[in-house]
Amino acid sequence: MAPALTGDLPTAPHNLGGPISKDIFPDGLKTTGQHPPLYDELVPFDQFPRQITGPTVWKAEDYRENPEKWTHTFNEEQVAELSAAADAFLASKTPLTGISKSNFQLPKLADYLHKLRADLIDGKGFILFKGFPVQKWGNHKSAVAYMGLGTYLGYFVSQNSRGHVLGHVKDLGEDSTQIDKVRIYRTNARQYFHADDSDIVGLLCIAKALEGGESDLVSSHNVYNTLAAERPDVLKTLISPIWYFDRKGETSTGQEEYIRTSVIYLERSAAETGIEPRVYTKWDPYYVRSLSRFSDAGIIPPLSAEQLEALKVLEETCVRLSLHMVLDIGDIQFLSNAHILHARTAYTDHAPPKPRRHLMRLWLATPEEEGGWRLPFWDSNEKKRGGIQVDDQAPVAPLDAE
Ligand SMILES: [Fe+2]
Repeated sequence: MAPALTGDLPTAPHNLGGPISKDIFPDGLKTTGQHPPLYDELVPFDQFPRQITGPTVWKAEDYRENPEKWTHTFNEEQVAELSAAADAFLASKTPLTGISKSNFQLPKLADYLHKLRADLIDGKGFILFKGFPVQKWGNHKSAVAYMGLGTYLGYFVSQNSRGHVLGHVKDLGEDSTQIDKVRIYRTNARQYFHADDSDIVGLLCIAKALEGGESDLVSSHNVYNTLAAERPDVLKTLISPIWYFDRKGETSTGQEEYIRTSVIYLERSAAETGIEPRVYTKWDPYYVRSLSRFSDAGIIPPLSAEQLEALKVLEETCVRLSLHMVLDIGDIQFLSNAHILHARTAYTDHAPPKPRRHLMRLWLATPEEEGGWRLPFWDSNEKKRGGIQVDDQAPVAPLDAE
């Protein structure tokens, strides 16, 4: 029998298990998780721009001596507004995973946050907030105010197989050399330049290290222009979909343990919008270096000499062009993962009983219809695109690492 011509569209991968249960996902939205790209939508090197222009291309010199251009200190009125919204939310007894703009209202700050969101998505791509009173508020109220603030920038997504939508960057003593199993944010090791698995990432500093743990960021569009001028061969290697990224075991039933993809993508064609396709970078060297268990068995190819060279040149270029930043207690850094790469130095914690370095992390999604980039992935217009979702793991927002 001939197939019906008017069949239903294929079921989205995250819906294969059936409809989304509100008992599990309180806001009716499930993180879509990691997926391979739409290979047909990947554009070859010769169709990429020769040079990128605009505010996403910045140099460290533009900002190094001008922290006022990228720092906002909350004033008394803003702290009071955040405090009142957090108190009202706490009084409502709503679980933290159910927080949204509608139950965390910021009538005065909303306008400013709307502009900030646009600057994160299509402008310089980062901000440092100061003056968030974490010590006065304590971890619970701080987490509420921080997640509430985040709802104005994007939809929170799960950050790991346990469904953490409030992540905790802290050294849990896990072995950072076991890179096929251990997520580096749970160690005190150096992090090379990379992007997280979400459109925007936020870090709120609750406690600092004794030494190190400092932040570096770079405009990946500046890196792109620099490589286009100095090492187009490296750029071409990064654009080719020959890179296998480890999923470190955080897979749903039936999914592969790795994803073959590019490091640098062009947005899907956007002729009808009149917007020039933007250049998107999604990178983490730990995730491409940890796959020897598959390459040794001949299941996937090992990194080639060109890839190893590209990896090295990319890191060196990022280091050379980066802006250094230190997060003090009560500081919040938000940055774009689409056009910023970030790194952190290794660190040493204080001896007990002083608290260990502790950052609360948010991963936020910005779907296409709400101004997000048109990414070459099936979930580009899903509200909770990206993140890490394993099967029907419910979202949780623990107040400390677990
Ligand atoms: Fe990161």
